[in-house]
Amino acid sequence: MAYASFRDFLAALEKSGELTRVGVPVDTELLITEWADREMKSPGGGKALLFEQPVVDGKVSKFPVAINTMGSRKRMAMALGRESIDEIAQEIQLILKAKPPTSLRDGFALLKQGIHLLHARPKSVSSAASQEVVQILDPSTTGISLRDIPILKCWPKDGGRFITLPHVHTRDPETGARNVGCYRMQIFDERTTAMHWQVHKVGARHGKRYYERNERMPVAVTLGGDPALSFAATAPLPDGIDEILFAGFLRKKSIEMVKCKTIDLEVPAEADFVLEGYVQPGELRPEGPFGDHTGYYTAIEDYPVFHLTAITHRKDAIYPTTIVGIPPMEDFYMGDASVRIFLPVFKMNFPELVDMTLPAEGVFHNLVFVSIRKHYPYQAFKVMHGLWGMGQMMFSKYIVVVDEDCDVHNTSEVLFRLCANTDPERDTSVIKNPSDSLDHAPSEQNIGSHMGFDATRKLPGENYRRKWPELLRMSDEARRLVDQLQKRTT
Ligand SMILES: Cc1cc2nc3c(=O)[nH]c(=O)nc-3n(C[C@H](O)[C@H](O)[C@H](O)COP(=O)(O)O)c2cc1C
Repeated sequence: MAYASFRDFLAALEKSGELTRVGVPVDTELLITEWADREMKSPGGGKALLFEQPVVDGKVSKFPVAINTMGSRKRMAMALGRESIDEIAQEIQLILKAKPPTSLRDGFALLKQGIHLLHARPKSVSSAASQEVVQILDPSTTGISLRDIPILKCWPKDGGRFITLPHVHTRDPETGARNVGCYRMQIFDERTTAMHWQVHKVGARHGKRYYERNERMPVAVTLGGDPALSFAATAPLPDGIDEILFAGFLRKKSIEMVKCKTIDLEVPAEADFVLEGYVQPGELRPEGPFGDHTGYYTAIEDYPVFHLTAITHRKDAIYPTTIVGIPPMEDFYMGDASVRIFLPVFKMNFPELVDMTLPAEGVFHNLVFVSIRKHYPYQAFKVMHGLWGMGQMMFSKYIVVVDEDCDVHNTSEVLFRLCANTDPERDTSVIKNPSDSLDHAPSEQNIGSHMGFDATRKLPGENYRRKWPELLRMSDEARRLVDQLQKRTT
């Protein structure tokens, strides 16, 4: 089901008992974070929160703040209009099965084609709710500014206020291909922000093209609208797969796009806010510190500057945001959905792959658990090396491979297998690979070592010269009898 607006999505959450309204004034500086952090740490991710009276610089903002709207399995599925995320994985599997691809490249090409066939192509429209109020920013402008949007200062030592759930729209100046990525933006003043696209991300690659041509880069940022796009902007789609198309596929309805007022880009017509502007080649400014996904503050570093040329918005706009920090946080459910949706694509490349998860403790890239159906020696190593070569999986710091009968979603079971089944020298592989820019542990930023653990049972040919022992299992008969006895005593 496609939502007509972000407000419509919040209404659906409220109807399902998934949203709590907060009617009292709450400061956007630290207090919304503290409130939302308690919610995100409660069992299953708590509820979505709608702060109806967010306070900025001592004044109540006219725009409410919504947070934790995707922070549980149920809400993440609702954001994509499904009962369960696994429905989407099944739909992707059907597309891939239509004509089984012979390589990963083929797989994504087919996926793209399938998505097109499902009428997900964006539609251009000439008028839009996201442009109900238009504020062109020239020197005499006195209307809405970034100060009027209830943007959070999340953690005490943050360098300022940060937009944390933006959809950053850019175009490759050579191919015209569009990209939408979620890159945080620190507010410098009413007209400028930082643009925190890290070096490995598509926005940064597009930026590099403009710098090489010494051309000003048009950038549009949207906030709100259908949450399918918020998810698509964070999903690790291969460079070249259009997030607008993908979001259209997810919501089973094209996204309507409208031309920006001051730059040559199109944005979703149903967004809550649109920030139009540009990035000037070569202009960098210190960004941070910021309390990050890692649970630590990331240090101050130079990033491009985004200059605003216009702000447009819905009259009844709601500001969507999130916070990141020590896990578990809302972003865990977004990352988890990505893995589950793309599992069929991984399985296509690794037929032995049974299941995979990125546990919350690993904050996306630090820890990956994979189960495989193992047939031949060193197959676990083949899988981990293959994963390190796939898009953003390159950042995976620790990959643990277990046998198919181990539930990767049960961290305790995986740790038991890891400890029981490995001889550290024989069963590990350490490689050099690019590291996540946010990872503070490597000696140098963006590069580091990663480690794979083969926690599967050892086969002949894997330097194990003894008989592999049998895992304890109770007999079916004993289990059945105890089930009956327990029923009688309760
Ligand atoms: C809440 C949230 C905030 C994020 N902030 C950033 C960020 O500031 N910079 C960045 O490069 N990636 C950030 N990411 C990760 C990217 O959104 C993600 O890697 C995405 O796939 C990038 O899209 P791209 O491949 O089109 O560049 C964030 C993810 C989430 C869930």
